[in-house]
Amino acid sequence: MDLNGKSAIVTGGGQGIGRGIALALAKHGADVMICDLNMEAAASVAKEVEDLGRKALPFQMDVTSEDDAGRMAEEAYQFFGKIDLLYNNAGTISMSLIEDLDAKAWDQIFAVNCKGVFLCTKAVIPYMKKQGGGRIINTASQAGKTGLSLLTHYCATKAAVILFTKGLALELAPHNILVNCFCPGSVMTDMTIRESKWASEMTGEDPEDILKKWESAIPLGRYATPDDIANVAVFLASEYSSYMTGQAVNVTGGQEMH
Ligand SMILES: NC(=O)c1ccc[n+]([C@@H]2O[C@H](COP(=O)([O-])OP(=O)(O)OC[C@H]3O[C@@H](n4cnc5c(N)ncnc54)[C@H](O)[C@@H]3O)[C@@H](O)[C@H]2O)c1
Repeated sequence: MDLNGKSAIVTGGGQGIGRGIALALAKHGADVMICDLNMEAAASVAKEVEDLGRKALPFQMDVTSEDDAGRMAEEAYQFFGKIDLLYNNAGTISMSLIEDLDAKAWDQIFAVNCKGVFLCTKAVIPYMKKQGGGRIINTASQAGKTGLSLLTHYCATKAAVILFTKGLALELAPHNILVNCFCPGSVMTDMTIRESKWASEMTGEDPEDILKKWESAIPLGRYATPDDIANVAVFLASEYSSYMTGQAVNVTGGQEMH
């Protein structure tokens, strides 16, 4: 899949799935802006992208800030001369019984997982419209398609991302801007390790045993790697998905099929 000459923005690109996406895009020829709260991590991934022979721009930002989102789009445009792809990947999670979840934690997860997607999207649209098209790809989750106890707030944010994707796809179709999202299942990243520790605190089970139990529920019998997810992200950026918009693509090892 040839992404030569394409320029991409990846939010939450400093580690995990976002890092995997940034590197996979670069391997297929794209230049990449790596946006993250953690500048050190963004700079380290930018170096990896440059080592693959592509242009890279590390950028420190908080996706919940409208100013940061505006600067992100401006700097990407200055650096690349265009914005072909936006990956709204930054996300956060916490785990709680609903009666223990405080309103601040609810607002915080919606701010990052939903408002962040909205703000970054809004910021790039004028550039994409001006240049006659683009792709917006959001990292949703299988948790946006099915209920999970202790993750009610997280599920609600990811369901919102899926429907935001679909509405936006219709609104932007006349401008040749294709909008899709993918729904990863369980991916072996820091986020999953953090979840296993929280589950361990709640149940007293060993975190390693919890990880094994979760893995045994995956039909393909293993966690996804960031590369498993990034390969689908590359497909959604490429000409091979030129007739797809408004889709929520499962990448779950068979765990979610709707
Ligand atoms: N790991 C999984 O099993 C899994 C499954 C389905 C969906 N997802 C989703 O995939 C995305 C990436 O997950 P991951 O597992 O790589 O997580 P991660 O925690 O390993 O990495 C998330 C990255 O996002 C950055 N980030 C967090 N909040 C930010 C903010 N406000 N502004 C800018 N950057 C911010 C972090 O600094 C970090 O670099 C998230 O949207 C997550 O919800 C993950």
